[in-house]
Amino acid sequence: SVANIGVVGLAVMGSNLARNLASREGNTVAIFNRSHDKTDHLVQAHPEAGFVPAATYEEFAASLTKPRTAIIMVKAGAGTDAVIDALVDVFEPGDIIVDGGNALFTDTIRREKAVRETGINFVGAGISGGEEGALLGPSIMPGGSDESWVTLGPILKSIAAVAEGEPCVTHVGHDGAGHFVKMVHNGIEYADMQLIAEAYDLIRRGTGKTPAEIADVFAEWNRGELESYLIEITAEVLRQVDAETGKPLVDVILDQAGAKGTGAWTVQTALNLGVPVSGIAEAVFARSLSSHPEQREVSGDLPGPVEGLTVTDPDAFIEDVRLALYASKIVAYSQGFDEIRAGAAEYDWNIDLGAVSKIWRGGCIIRAQFLNRIADAYGQTPDLPVLLTAPYFVEALGRAQGSWRRIVQTAAGAGIPAPAFSSSLSYYDGLRAERLPAALVQGQRDFFGAHTYKRIDKPGTFHTLWSGDRTEIEAEDTH
Ligand code: 6PG
Repeated sequence: SVANIGVVGLAVMGSNLARNLASREGNTVAIFNRSHDKTDHLVQAHPEAGFVPAATYEEFAASLTKPRTAIIMVKAGAGTDAVIDALVDVFEPGDIIVDGGNALFTDTIRREKAVRETGINFVGAGISGGEEGALLGPSIMPGGSDESWVTLGPILKSIAAVAEGEPCVTHVGHDGAGHFVKMVHNGIEYADMQLIAEAYDLIRRGTGKTPAEIADVFAEWNRGELESYLIEITAEVLRQVDAETGKPLVDVILDQAGAKGTGAWTVQTALNLGVPVSGIAEAVFARSLSSHPEQREVSGDLPGPVEGLTVTDPDAFIEDVRLALYASKIVAYSQGFDEIRAGAAEYDWNIDLGAVSKIWRGGCIIRAQFLNRIADAYGQTPDLPVLLTAPYFVEALGRAQGSWRRIVQTAAGAGIPAPAFSSSLSYYDGLRAERLPAALVQGQRDFFGAHTYKRIDKPGTFHTLWSGDRTEIEAEDTH
């Protein structure tokens, strides 16, 4: 046995990760793919990598030094279970199986438990950064046992992106913690993308600028506090011209956004945990709304406002949009971190939120300058209950809120959908409210279902005899 690490599954992500591993000092990489052509092809295409190809799982296991460590890079789902079963058959106690796909964290919890019974370690690791990240340095979010981290940590550190001198990988927590955090990463990614899309739409409709001109706006924003990978690539997409028609590419792309499910998982999980990730939810729903052409077709004649959008000072308007985007982005991240906090409490993971923000500074899709501020916030107050209440964000929100409110008003008045901008603002105002109409909801629940309520002035649980003489009695707490 000569290889210290193996990769199973040699589609683009797997091949690139294998090449990344091979390019780092000290690694020798064994590779295996269900159809052997791909293995042969990768070996031939990259002789410099010194891959150790295997034709069978037995050969693959034999080529690995102990503890054997293998990263599975196959499409998440039943295929993952099949590969795990095959590896469990040929591995031994103490060996490590890593799933680097976008698995649902509850699947990872289940798999970890089952594999652990054999004495083999199972690690669910979120890997972000797309094809390029896999090749040059992704952000990696591993879960699994402390024992597996001893072997795996140095290997993953060798291939991860580096931000501010630190590798973008940390042992997130046990069993499914890594995939949970990757799921929330993707939820934030959805929100960030939707917010950028709303900003683009408002600027285009408000100023009549061309996509190429708006690309310049985004490129400019990328030099300030919004600096991020997603803003950068937005400028590139907007600048792209379609070779066939000569039109901006964005104008010939069908306006129906796809989704592979991780955004929906983030929201489903948040609903179960009772965490209001409203910005992420709006982003997922916006993709769903866009993807029902039959509904949009019959809705085109629905009445809208008489007045369209008229912008008198385009520069001031664009600055308002920028600040609305920044404020809404702070909300999206705050909500995402709230979900991680709640997930950690529910599943008993000891997740360092500051460490999570640090490993997202490089390699991943949501990498941004801004994550340094989040790292600072958790550095100062590790158990901060609401991220956006950190002093830096309070200042930023104070600076942005006037613009944010104007943009939400303007969008509503002009009939332009801005669901993520407006729901983020409502969330913000909900947090700020001294009293919420939730008191009335409690009254209604008590009226029709005797669901009881608590009072502001004394302990205990109460019920009003609504269908009797409407006096109040002490009651059992039913929530
Ligand atoms: C990443 C990406 C990656 C992918 C997702 C989202 O972190 O590298 O998040 O995981 O792009 O699959 O894709 P959808 O938009 O198709 O849901």
